Amino acid sequence: MSDNVFYRSVRKKYHVVERGDGIYLYDQAGKRYIDACSGSAVSNIGHGNPKVIAALTAQAQKVAFTHLSRWTSEPLQKLADMVAEMAPGSLNKLYLVSGGSEATESALKMARQYYLERDGASNKYKVISRWKTFHGNTIGALSMTGDNRRKKYTPLLLDFPKISPPYCYRCAYGNEPSSCGMDCAWELERVLNLVGAESVAAFIAEPVIGAASGAVVPPDGYFKVIREICDRHDILFIADEVMTGFGRTGSMFAMEQFGVVPDLITVAKGMSAGYVPLGGVVVKDEIYETFKKGSGVFVHGHTYGGNPLAAAVAVAVLEVLQEENLVENSRVMGQYLLEQLGEKLSGSPFIGDIRGRGLMQGVELVRDKATKAPFDPKLNVAEKATNVLMEHGVVVYPGTGAADGVAGDHFLLAPPLIITREQVDDLVQRMVSAFGELDQSLAN
Ligand SMILES: Cc1ncc(COP(=O)(O)O)c(C=O)c1O
Repeated sequence: MSDNVFYRSVRKKYHVVERGDGIYLYDQAGKRYIDACSGSAVSNIGHGNPKVIAALTAQAQKVAFTHLSRWTSEPLQKLADMVAEMAPGSLNKLYLVSGGSEATESALKMARQYYLERDGASNKYKVISRWKTFHGNTIGALSMTGDNRRKKYTPLLLDFPKISPPYCYRCAYGNEPSSCGMDCAWELERVLNLVGAESVAAFIAEPVIGAASGAVVPPDGYFKVIREICDRHDILFIADEVMTGFGRTGSMFAMEQFGVVPDLITVAKGMSAGYVPLGGVVVKDEIYETFKKGSGVFVHGHTYGGNPLAAAVAVAVLEVLQEENLVENSRVMGQYLLEQLGEKLSGSPFIGDIRGRGLMQGVELVRDKATKAPFDPKLNVAEKATNVLMEHGVVVYPGTGAADGVAGDHFLLAPPLIITREQVDDLVQRMVSAFGELDQSLAN
């Protein structure tokens, strides 16, 4: 084993993956695991898809790389047409990069330049976002992020305002669903009044909050309030669908379920399903036209953005998504998984909440279900749960800090969208066995 890899966690011992097939991953000893989080909601069409491997090989044989400043290609144009067809409203223009952080960083810069193009001079540059959300790790993206990944870098970050998330299990306003007046959405208006909308270019939000909070779904009507406030104050609404896009929550884009059309949608993960690094921003025609009528140049770009290999892979991935009806499978299997988890696991004394949409679900672990008190962060409960589940052949995506910024343990379940009913049953059965063990160790 090489000592020369700089892992995220430098003291941890990592499992060595050998291969992947469908929803399964195999280690070098031949042990099989259900990839119950698709890495981080990435491998949406499963591992080892022959159609995608064939498309990747064929394109690599033709030409793998050309720079977007001098060349376009057939796969790139095909991909843009497919995404325009899938995206809502007039979101028809696709700007490509190589991952989620580059996508949100690009959206931030696009929002800033849009107002310069439209108005000539503009003071609009701030992006308002929400606490307990994740938009990426580069400096602009981290400035919009509202979780514990930002703390060590605070001096480097842009001073962007944040509002409370729609985290109903731990409502910032102490409301119950029956008394919810959507205070957390109206907070956007109060913050705009305080900072001045003339300095604000955009508001960014994940439709269903992923990594930072574990599949937090907003109450009905939340995004309608957000959209109305953005329109009234002349700020753009960016939906960060890096995790939720391309079927993860049971519709092509999660925003469809909330009846609201954003101005920009950031995408990544599911667009190439892990077969190549890829990200992008889907943009409304009106915004694109403003650039066209203005300077004609978006002053931004990354070397690998829009390369033919990545585009050809994404075309094949999205064809599989459509041909195999995986968005609908995500909706149906997601509902089944949620019901099964509720039925078979909510008896655990340490599972406080099970929530989510489609095949994006979160399990929040608490020390006391009645008070919702979180575990002491020193106990590393999310990590502990992940390790026990892994011994039982289930890979999940853990997270911390959702309760109060430091304490709080959850994990995400986001299996490949190809999962069958029998495989959901197997997954839940393995989780029941793992929690039998975990509940005992947490009780001691
Ligand atoms: C909603 C969201 N935005 C942005 C990102 C950043 O993406 P990447 O890790 O590809 O840079 C992530 C990654 O998990 C994400 O979930």
